[in-house]
Amino acid sequence: MKRYLVLLVLCLLAAGCSKKGGKEAEVIKIGAAGQLTGPEAVFGADMLNGVKLAVEEWNTKGGVLGKKIELLPGDDQAEPRQAVAVANKFVAEGVVGVIGHFNSSCSIPASEVYHRAGIPEISHASTNPQLTDQGFANVFRVCGRDDQQGKAAADFAVQKLHVKRVAIIHDKTTYGQGFAEEFKKAIGPAAQVVAFEGITKGEKDYTPVVTKIKAVNPDIIFFGGIYTEGGLLVKQYKAVGGTAPFIGGDGIMSEEYIKIGGSAAEGNYATFGPDTKEVPSAKGFNENYRKKFGEPGVYSVYAYDAANILLQAIQKAGTTDGAKVVPAIRAIDYNGALGHIQFDAKGDVKESPYVIWKVTGGKWQQVK
Ligand code: ALA
Repeated sequence: MKRYLVLLVLCLLAAGCSKKGGKEAEVIKIGAAGQLTGPEAVFGADMLNGVKLAVEEWNTKGGVLGKKIELLPGDDQAEPRQAVAVANKFVAEGVVGVIGHFNSSCSIPASEVYHRAGIPEISHASTNPQLTDQGFANVFRVCGRDDQQGKAAADFAVQKLHVKRVAIIHDKTTYGQGFAEEFKKAIGPAAQVVAFEGITKGEKDYTPVVTKIKAVNPDIIFFGGIYTEGGLLVKQYKAVGGTAPFIGGDGIMSEEYIKIGGSAAEGNYATFGPDTKEVPSAKGFNENYRKKFGEPGVYSVYAYDAANILLQAIQKAGTTDGAKVVPAIRAIDYNGALGHIQFDAKGDVKESPYVIWKVTGGKWQQVK
């Protein structure tokens, strides 16, 4: 009897252990990292919802490699240190790939953690050149780069708006300052840079800087940064009597910019990819996203495609082993909501067209 009891206990223990082991292997964990809280949380939600949609679609079809996908959100609060903490947590939790982060100031330090762990990272929105220039084979992005984006903004200002005097403001971040420097470089001798000012993120009163900018009488004001500060700057600049339009980039491409800036945002410009609400390839994405989450943000579709690329590469590699998934991403020939995507040797997309957008009638509209 005693022997049977011992056997029974051993069997139960074994069953318990194998169940635990089995459960761990039953799901494939992927991370989605961005600013889920804080002043830029709208961008974080846009990203998370895009990834959620992709994961749900895969899970409805049976998951990947016959296993369900578990999505782990990581909130970096747009803070570099928090981004590294999120990356370390993802690695400890056994995540096999990461979508994100949003801010270049987060993606770049986090990429070192993913690089050491051999985990693929696909950023949907980090545009600073350094992210892929640092030579980490596991790092990719589906958006463009600020050397391309800065040139697109400069070409538009010089060739279409015929500006002669340019003022530049940036938020001193990796993205904001880097983008501002790329813009300045691309302007070259075609126009005079009459101001180059850094602001501190998170402040509420930028009246001193916009007063200074107004005094140097620019034809256009370039802003490298995010909508939170961008919206306040334009509003306060107009309040001190400034009349020049602002031009920014992907960081201000949010309805939030217009909400914060109010009527002062009207007529402002930004560089971004072509309108994805109109392309046939994104029709299904737009419909399904709207049903679940409402209107997509401009970067939602990038996050959605990034997640699909990661999952397709895992499927193709037949394993979650980063050593095999990374080359599968590099070799991918992907047709998704954004259209056709292939990566170059650095992990940048081979094609990343930038176009000009303008706030027209209280909405961001692509300039045709
Ligand atoms: N493109 C912005 C960045 O790189 C969002 O931080």
